[in-house]
Amino acid sequence: MLYYDFPDAYDLFYSEDFHIATLKYYKKIFSTKKIKDVLDCTIGTGMLTIPMAKLGFNVTGSDINQKMLRKAKINFAKEKLMSNFVRSDILNLSQTIKRDFDLVMSTGNSLAHVQNVNLKKAFSQMDSVLKPGGLLYFDSRNWELILKRRQRFYLFNPIIRDKGRVNYIQVWDYNRDGSMVFNFLIFEEINNKIISKRQFYVIYYPFTVETIRLILEEMNYQNIQFFKMGDPENTNLQNSNWYSVMATKPFPELLK
Ligand SMILES: C[S@@+](CC[C@H](N)C(=O)[O-])C[C@H]1O[C@@H](n2cnc3c(N)ncnc32)[C@H](O)[C@@H]1O
Repeated sequence: MLYYDFPDAYDLFYSEDFHIATLKYYKKIFSTKKIKDVLDCTIGTGMLTIPMAKLGFNVTGSDINQKMLRKAKINFAKEKLMSNFVRSDILNLSQTIKRDFDLVMSTGNSLAHVQNVNLKKAFSQMDSVLKPGGLLYFDSRNWELILKRRQRFYLFNPIIRDKGRVNYIQVWDYNRDGSMVFNFLIFEEINNKIISKRQFYVIYYPFTVETIRLILEEMNYQNIQFFKMGDPENTNLQNSNWYSVMATKPFPELLK
C-alpha cells in the first residue's frame, strides 16, 4: 500500500516539537527575503508548510495525491489558516497553475519521487511558476550518504498516544536499478496489545548534490546555496543526513 494513500498514518509522526523547529528554521531563512506568495508543489498533508502560513506567507499547495491534499485542507483548517490547493504533478505545473510566486518550494524530501530522467523537467516546471528574482527551495535526504552507508533497518522511539503507543520501523530496500523502496511498518498498541499492523511503501530515485548543482547552473540560477536542513550556517554536507537548497531565479535581462 502506498504510504501517501493513507494520510492519517502519514501524519502520525509529526510532533509539536518538529513543528516549532520548522517554524523557527523557516523564519531564519525566509523572513528577511522579499516573499509574499508561496507555492509548495509537493505539499502532502501540509505539515511542513503550515509553519510558512503561520509566518504570514500566502500559501498555495499542490500535490499529485488527492488524498494527501484533502488531509492538507483539514490540517490547515484546524489551524484556522487560509490556503489554496491544486492537484498537480510537479511535472505539469505550468498546465495546472496559471500564476506565479515569489517562492516555489518542494518540502519533505519529495523531489526524489521524480525519476532521474525527469529531474530537469521538474525544475523547469517549478521555474515556470516562479517570478524572475524569486526563490526556489527544496529539502532532500542526502542520498549519497545513504548509498554509502546502505543501512537497512531503522527503529524509532514509540509515539505515545492517549491510550497506547505507535511503534514505527522503516526498512529500506536498495534496488539494482538504483531506485529505493522505503517500507514503513506501523504497529498500533492499546493497553499493551497490538491492535493493528500496517505496512506501507514509497519509491525514491536517489540523486547527487552535483546533479542538482548542474541543473540549477544550466538554468542560470544565482546564489545557489546548499546547507544542512535546519542549520543554514552549516554548508558541510558530508555528514548531513538531510540538506536544503535555495537558489534565485535570474531576471531575463541577465540572460542576454
Ligand atoms: C514525503 S511526502 C512530503 C509531503 C510534505 N511536503 C511533507 O513534508 O510532509 C512526498 C509528497 O510528494 C508527493 N508527490 C510524489 N510525486 C509527486 C509528483 N510527481 N508531483 C507532485 N507531488 C508528488 C506525494 O504525493 C507526497 O505527498
